[in-house]
Amino acid sequence: MVSRATRLDKIPPYLFGEIAAKKAKAVAEGRDLIDFGIGDPDQPTPQPIVEALYRAACEPDTHRYDESPAGDPKFLGPVCSWFEREFGVAIDQKTEAMQLIGSKEGLAHLAWAYIDPGDISLVPDPAYTVYRVNTQMAGGDVAIMPLLEERGFLPDLTAIPSETARKAKLLWLNYPNNPTGAVATLDFYRETVEFCKQYDLLLINDAAYSMVAFDGHRPPSVLQVEGGKDVAIELHSFSKMFNMTGWRVAMAFGNPDAVATLNKLKSNLDSKQFAAVARAAAYAVEHVDNKASLDLIRMRRDILVDGLNGLGWNVTKPKATFYVWVRIPTGEGSMAFAGRLLEEAGVLVIPGVGYGQYGEGYIRMSLTVMGDRAGERVTEAVQRLSEMQIA
Ligand SMILES: Cc1ncc(COP(=O)(O)O)c(C=O)c1O
Repeated sequence: MVSRATRLDKIPPYLFGEIAAKKAKAVAEGRDLIDFGIGDPDQPTPQPIVEALYRAACEPDTHRYDESPAGDPKFLGPVCSWFEREFGVAIDQKTEAMQLIGSKEGLAHLAWAYIDPGDISLVPDPAYTVYRVNTQMAGGDVAIMPLLEERGFLPDLTAIPSETARKAKLLWLNYPNNPTGAVATLDFYRETVEFCKQYDLLLINDAAYSMVAFDGHRPPSVLQVEGGKDVAIELHSFSKMFNMTGWRVAMAFGNPDAVATLNKLKSNLDSKQFAAVARAAAYAVEHVDNKASLDLIRMRRDILVDGLNGLGWNVTKPKATFYVWVRIPTGEGSMAFAGRLLEEAGVLVIPGVGYGQYGEGYIRMSLTVMGDRAGERVTEAVQRLSEMQIA
């Protein structure tokens, strides 16, 4: 057989394999698992969006290639207006916005568009693995920015050696954050924009969870910072905003040069998604809110966090995202602890080390619990954990 490209060897081993195998075994044995694993909304896409898809699919021009340069104007117009409504920042639809086939695609391709062998990405740890893996597959190196609890899981930019910062090309951020549930402040974004200007870095802010926020919290955008567009591109997604992970639709806003660079790569790779999907998404930002799903997530969050704190676990309530980032209350490693929760309580969680070395000592519990209607499965999970011998 022909050998594969060596870049594929850069993909690290699948750390969740062990947990996945345990899960498969437990399911095969007919055990009743409560699944806090993958961060994929359990609720369906709101019906009006599904109906908008049908209407858009009946428009014959959606059946052909979308040959627009950076996205269907019937998508870009509404999402640029949405961004201005939400964040108070006007976006030039022609030069500062682009349609994506999900934000994962855009993030991965930004690495491919910018990283040559030997180039450096500054990547948070713990983090969504896409920033790191694509930098490495493109031949680049990763310099880690630890996200520590005592700093609210914001990186300490002053700890980055200036030689590393000078050599680096990309600085990746993700707020609201997966896996820690942390949110950024505008002051932190200001500091980061300054840093990126000083060292001539492109700031890529993954804002996939920008609309998953609770208790009146409004996550800021890095583009609200004066001069933000000089250095930053920010990605937003319909996946988590409207329970649309399977639809594959997202967008990038910001620095025109970064938008054009990403577009140059993508126009040689893909021909966008089915235009009806993009038009249904446009309908969503203009006519639909996903408050009912957010209310359910918030209810689960309160049951889980209050319940775990009642057991003495000391867990912080996230202001945004689906994720509760739990410091392991025993001295166990995250793989061992997650394995034990699964075996002894039938509660599936993700070991923090899967997101990087600074994720060790934590587990991530996603509030997208399949089969939970009104918090009853989350309540049951807390009950099961209370019956475990934890210490
Ligand atoms: C931090 C983060 N960014 C991006 C994505 C990808 O989302 P999308 O469905 O828009 O590709 C995810 C998905 O889980 C994520 O957790």
